[in-house]
Amino acid sequence: MSELGVNIDHVATLREARKTDEPDPVWAAALAELGGADGITIHLREDRRHIQERDLRILRETVSVKLNLELACDADGIALACETKPDQATLVPERREEITTEGGLDILTNRETVSTAISRLRDAGITVSLFIDPDPDQIQLAAELGAEAVELHTGRYANAVHNDCDTELNQLSLAGQLVRSAGLTLHAGHGLTYRNVQPVAGLVGMSELNIGHSIIARAIFSGLSQAVREMKTLITAASHS
Ligand code: PXP
Repeated sequence: MSELGVNIDHVATLREARKTDEPDPVWAAALAELGGADGITIHLREDRRHIQERDLRILRETVSVKLNLELACDADGIALACETKPDQATLVPERREEITTEGGLDILTNRETVSTAISRLRDAGITVSLFIDPDPDQIQLAAELGAEAVELHTGRYANAVHNDCDTELNQLSLAGQLVRSAGLTLHAGHGLTYRNVQPVAGLVGMSELNIGHSIIARAIFSGLSQAVREMKTLITAASHS
């Protein structure tokens, strides 16, 4: 059965929209754990648009399930990871102008940088996962470079419609087999929702799914009427008539 890593970046995105102290991703992580999350995932982007170093440091102290840090291969980020020691680091590509991580890490063209990052993280005792497209050559090299896991990018599957969906799922399935036969642990994520998650969760050997946007989007609606009720109660209690 696959574990669920809950990506809480969007909670920090909302906080950063006002540069205030709420909502706090640390609270979100605690609630996600209470809801049964097997892991908490955060992406410390170079531009710090959502998760901050402060979040990483507090979450390292407070998260009791697996803490998975997504980060690019830059030296400063890797040094911070080695210092704070999340349980797992997932190496991702990063472009400042992108809205979200838009494709897998191309380890074929960034071989040396990725290899150095993997060695440094592993030397610090951190499990390393590589976020890559479901491509046989990328998977093969991930194993050669010493990663322990591969997170298959499910974005193309998530964006596909009708028959293309089956084609993309089939590609993920074949890639999943390659990941496992290369001795790597199989993870997947990006764009997974309440509607499309089950075929991916059902892939043989799927070990971890990282899901953010859809869960945080659902949480807004499952919690909104209660939040309004609480504000109404305060206003009513303070009113004179
Ligand atoms: N996995 C990786 C490597 C990601 O970069 C992201 C997005 O931050 C996710 C999973 C979660 O994607 P989504 O928010 O679409 O569920």
